[in-house]
Amino acid sequence: MSQQSTLTHATGNRHQRDGQPVDIQLRGVEKRFEGFHAVRGVDLDITSGELLVLLGPSGCGKTTTLNMLAGLETPTGGQIIFGDKIVNHLPPEERDIAMVFQSIALYPHLNVRENIGFALRTQKVDRSVVAERTVEVAGILGLTPMLDRKINQLSGGQRQRVAIAKALVRRPALFLLDEPFSSLDAELRRQMRSELIRIHREVETTMVFVTHDQEEAMAIADRIGVMNEGKLVQLGDPLDLYLRPVNTWIARFIGAHPINFLTGQASGNTISLLPGWTLELPAEVRARVSGDTVTLGVRPDYLQVERAPHAGSIAGTVHTRQILGTDVLYEIDAGDTLLRSVRSVTDVFTEGDQVHLSLDWNQVFVFDSQTEERVYPA
Ligand SMILES: Nc1ncnc2c1ncn2[C@@H]1O[C@H](COP(=O)(O)OP(=O)(O)O)[C@@H](O)[C@H]1O
Ligand SMILES: [Mg+2]
Repeated sequence: MSQQSTLTHATGNRHQRDGQPVDIQLRGVEKRFEGFHAVRGVDLDITSGELLVLLGPSGCGKTTTLNMLAGLETPTGGQIIFGDKIVNHLPPEERDIAMVFQSIALYPHLNVRENIGFALRTQKVDRSVVAERTVEVAGILGLTPMLDRKINQLSGGQRQRVAIAKALVRRPALFLLDEPFSSLDAELRRQMRSELIRIHREVETTMVFVTHDQEEAMAIADRIGVMNEGKLVQLGDPLDLYLRPVNTWIARFIGAHPINFLTGQASGNTISLLPGWTLELPAEVRARVSGDTVTLGVRPDYLQVERAPHAGSIAGTVHTRQILGTDVLYEIDAGDTLLRSVRSVTDVFTEGDQVHLSLDWNQVFVFDSQTEERVYPA
């Protein structure tokens, strides 16, 4: 399904009550295109009223999954259930959904008011109802002062808000958004995130929002479903994903700065991480480790850097530094490896500085080096 030519697509089932959110279940959902297995056994419960983000790298099956929720693609296996009804073959217009796509197409010869009310008017909804709902939705989206403007008199962010208004005015039970902000610049994208959170709070509609941007997902989601290669890898709230990644892939994908991975050789109650860096292995970690080789994940935020040697530290040299506003990201050469650490700008080191690194076992992930699944914390 191409996104290019698609308008904000609003449909509704007139037999259902407007805006009545439903619980949605995906049970072993599959999509095989000719020669490509795009979605592989996705099980997912979407709770009515939540803002669920589907997050994953390009090509992982997010749009295909969204299109199956919309009825624009038919699953080749499994079931999609709205409330207590299997909807696998139900066409979009009978699903009480509205969609917003990445590339918005509005009617340039119509003004904002006419664009917002377009779908309702074609459905012969009473004029006074259209007018009333248009004004209400425009208010929610901050479009009231520009209702009579033509689309070409609006900025990119304003157009995106009209596209959202156009979908919301239908009061859908399910609101689907496919990378709606990706064509906007960084500042506008941040602004739209806050607006979406606010809109979701006001309209209380179930929303499924697709993005490849983990920062965007973390910022707006009630829960995030992370996809990779057609599979749902982990489902949880944003903090859950950050603090309890199920495997090395999630640990690498979630987080503003790339996590450090170290190969550890456990021996008795010690573990060797780098040449010249052997630490005592706490009993509760040891108890979770089977086999001698494990993978440690240490987020840059939790790799301590100090000027003086201290208990359990390894010496290193500051290789590069990037000032990131309130934080500084360092690459530090220690034991022939470059480790990343993010510190506050209040303790600034410069390239070439001799420093000492340490970690806190309370903030370390241990992964099985065969399965790559997290074994610690349990
Ligand atoms: N109609 C199609 N025919 C064949 N392959 C497709 C079709 N649509 C999507 N795909 C493939 O399925 C995979 C997932 O696509 P998509 O769901 O669009 O990914 P995402 O939205 O996560 O970037 C991609 O490899 C894509 O090329
Ligand atoms: Mg996509």
